[in-house]
Amino acid sequence: MSNNTECVHTDFYVRRLHSLLGIVPIGFFLLEHVITISQVLGGGHAFDAAVAKLAAIPHDILITLEIVFIAIPLLIHGIYGMYIAMQAKLNPGRYGYMRNKQFTLQRITAWYLVPFLLWHVGYLRFIVKGSEGISFAQMSSYLDNPIVFALYVIGLVAAIFHFTNGLFTFSITWGISKGPRVQSVVNKMAWGLFVILAAVGVASMFAFIG
Ligand code: HEM
Repeated sequence: MSNNTECVHTDFYVRRLHSLLGIVPIGFFLLEHVITISQVLGGGHAFDAAVAKLAAIPHDILITLEIVFIAIPLLIHGIYGMYIAMQAKLNPGRYGYMRNKQFTLQRITAWYLVPFLLWHVGYLRFIVKGSEGISFAQMSSYLDNPIVFALYVIGLVAAIFHFTNGLFTFSITWGISKGPRVQSVVNKMAWGLFVILAAVGVASMFAFIG
């Protein structure tokens, strides 16, 4: 096998790994995260109770889960994602107008998520969070700053779009949705999920400052 063929094969498998990690476990974690945050819609106490439940997981197990199922997959997906996003493959004319817009938005949200996740995880997980988790009171005073609030709303909506549009492209990458009709149905379902998750996410953000 020539070096070139080996490269093409490696690229194929790394791309599949990148794609899979976007759903399992990162996408699943995002879903869990939105559900936890949305507990604030039931009031500050409900949010604190949800955080306390997560904090009740023994520390060593929690750290291991965070490293194995969040940090490592996100690092691999993010680093390889930057490599993909830097290859200016803008497929003009291959898909319809809307699909091209979605392709561009997938990359814009990816680039927004790089500094946003570094800031979000770096500050809230490593600086603010003690062993008990973050309280409603801490979050509401943090989000009281309108700039922080706006950047968080954009970050949350960007992550949700990147994930739901990613579900659609994932189904194509893996040959699950073949043909324009099925793809159009899956795309609509992905948009539906985006609207639901974004509405719940943004309403939750307002509940922190409301
Ligand atoms: C909230 C965190 C993230 C989640 C849940 C997530 C999820 C996903 C999913 C499900 C896909 C679709 C895979 C496919 O089409 O087969 C995807 C694609 C992509 N992700 Fe992420 N991702 C996240 C963060 C990032 C970050 C930080 C980057 C960094 C640049 C990134 C870059 C990309 C790129 C470039 C693609 C498009 C791949 C392609 O068109 O082939 N993602 N992501």
